[in-house]
Amino acid sequence: MQITIDGLQFSYTSTPILDNVNADLSGHKLVSILGPNGVGKSTLIHCINKILTPKGGTVMIDGKDVKEITIKEMSKIVGYVPYSANDSFPLSVVDTVMMGRHPHSKWGSLDSDLRIVYETLEMLGISHLAMRSFNELSAGQHQKVMLARGLAQEPRILLLDEPTSNLDVRHQLEVTKLLRKMAEEKDILVIMISHDINIAAKYSDEILMMHQGSIFATGTPKEVITEENLKAVYGVEAKVIDDLGTPHVILRDSIPVDLEKVEEVRSPLMAESLRAKNEDSIVSDAIEENQ
Ligand SMILES: Nc1ncnc2c1ncn2[C@@H]1O[C@H](COP(=O)(O)OP(=O)(O)OP(=O)(O)O)[C@@H](O)[C@H]1O
Ligand SMILES: [Mg+2]
Repeated sequence: MQITIDGLQFSYTSTPILDNVNADLSGHKLVSILGPNGVGKSTLIHCINKILTPKGGTVMIDGKDVKEITIKEMSKIVGYVPYSANDSFPLSVVDTVMMGRHPHSKWGSLDSDLRIVYETLEMLGISHLAMRSFNELSAGQHQKVMLARGLAQEPRILLLDEPTSNLDVRHQLEVTKLLRKMAEEKDILVIMISHDINIAAKYSDEILMMHQGSIFATGTPKEVITEENLKAVYGVEAKVIDDLGTPHVILRDSIPVDLEKVEEVRSPLMAESLRAKNEDSIVSDAIEENQ
């Protein structure tokens, strides 16, 4: 499968959120989208799966503009595991995951659908939760069930919004490794948003790093996860070391916010509060000097 994003633009209000996003993603890969809060990662994914309609540019799947792909067709090709903050289904785990089979459901296919659902639960190590009510589960268990629903759909492209945000370290590793394995074995293009740079670096074939509404850097983890890029995009001082061929980030400190830059990106409220803070410290320094 191939996704080609060309000159993509999107805004919710008059402020542009995505501004000329270009990307070409293909093959059975795990691609991670990295970038700071509010940069437009979830918005980008929503433009790919037609939840949002771009204001400009195009998203093509295998050469076909998504505008021309029907919702039904789309649900067979593209699976989506949303950010899991407030999912709630008054259903058992097995029925929740069964919802993933909906795009494929045909008369008489229940047995094979159930088999796929149970195989997926098994693969994620949660078959013991099958009969539990979804709403009674812990946040990490919820996240695994939603992941199972996405995988049970057997899509050709799987989009995941922070799929491991509620998982403990072991499960973060296991799930990300599994996503990489699924991409390869089932020939799926897996695209996930992540805030865990080290785990993304360890398992991703490709990284898209977003900054100010567009793609700042793209390439292998080694090419994209550099000290310079982390400084420019996240505003952090970090040391990037080589861990068996994979970049590993050791965070040192955040870089103090530059007042002029804040004004440049039109955050008058933040600039105002920083100015007030600076003035306070000038006054307290002066008092100290006079004592
Ligand atoms: N429904 C909406 N209406 C108006 N503005 C929105 C809406 N959804 C998101 N935004 C704004 O669009 C920008 C991008 O949001 P988005 O959710 O894509 O960020 P993100 O990169 O996924 O961030 P995070 O890492 O925090 O999830 C933010 O400034 C956000 O406030
Ligand atoms: Mg988001």
